[in-house]
Amino acid sequence: MPLVTLRQVLDEAQKREFAVGAFNFNNMEQLQGVMQAFKNTRCFGIIQASRGALKYTNHDFLHHLALAAVELFPDVPIVLHLDHGDSLDTVKKVISLGFTSVMIDGSRLSFEENVALTRSVVDFAHPRGVSVEGELGVLGGIEEDVEGKSAFTDPDQVEEFVAKTGVDALAVAVGTSHGAYKFSAEPRIRQDLIQETHRRVPDCAVVLHGASSVPSSLIEEIDRYGGSMSKAKGVPIKMLQEAIKRGIRKINVDTDVRLAVTATIRRVLNERPDVFDPREYLGEARKRITSIVEEKTRAFGGANRVPEDFQPISLKDQAARYSRG
Ligand code: G3H
Ligand code: 13P
Ligand code: ZN
Repeated sequence: MPLVTLRQVLDEAQKREFAVGAFNFNNMEQLQGVMQAFKNTRCFGIIQASRGALKYTNHDFLHHLALAAVELFPDVPIVLHLDHGDSLDTVKKVISLGFTSVMIDGSRLSFEENVALTRSVVDFAHPRGVSVEGELGVLGGIEEDVEGKSAFTDPDQVEEFVAKTGVDALAVAVGTSHGAYKFSAEPRIRQDLIQETHRRVPDCAVVLHGASSVPSSLIEEIDRYGGSMSKAKGVPIKMLQEAIKRGIRKINVDTDVRLAVTATIRRVLNERPDVFDPREYLGEARKRITSIVEEKTRAFGGANRVPEDFQPISLKDQAARYSRG
């Protein structure tokens, strides 16, 4: 089936109150591992590329990797999404490559500048049927919020932001942050802000970034085989499940896949010092990605959610829906 839009997938998630995992990819093994898990669990899948990923793969290569995924996994409804887009130019570039969804991250701008940038992206994307995710608030932990380096999403700004921009999805800052070191003390996120955001804009899907769980088993494996990551800490799965109950519909994961790859490669090379064929350790890493993504999809309630008679809405039809309002 062709690529689908974030709007259609998140509408399904909204209706049946589950969350869709959005996984970053930078190379063939990551994409294959993630796609195999989507297929095994019969779920909707979001594959996303950051600007770093686009640069690393030289844009066109990433585009062709995504085309291969569509062709080789015809039963999986996949959204191809830009993660943390910074400008209208980046958005135009990826839409020309066939992305069906974009994030525009104006979170470091003032509220008015964020609205203006996000609106300009919606005005470009929606007539092409492409979905848009915006962000309100600055990601960071509870401690950073106290120090003023992050700023949690203010529910009082949410309705105005969504009404003025027309975004399909909204990323919120509620205490998570990117990477493997999310909390120096016990993990804590502001579930109340998720619930209040969802209550105020029930038709706009709420998105959680920085949602990797940083499993201690992977950290121990990395450290056992020469790494040094003992202070790494993520968002426990139970906390994510509570966040889904409160309204989260898209969960962004990059770090856990990176950890799975690194742990596996370190282990294989340590246990089998004679190995020099990259297919040995990359193949193992790919299998590990599949099992991690399957586990998450099940935990997020996304397994077996694609109806037998699922029909993707074309970009043209989606554009017409947007224009009708
Ligand atoms: O949002 C951050 C993602 O983990 C992407 O990271 O910019 O290093 O590709 P990256
Ligand atoms: P993690 O670093 O927690 O995996 O978050 C990824 C993310 O939010 C990508 O946008
Ligand atoms: Zn993010």
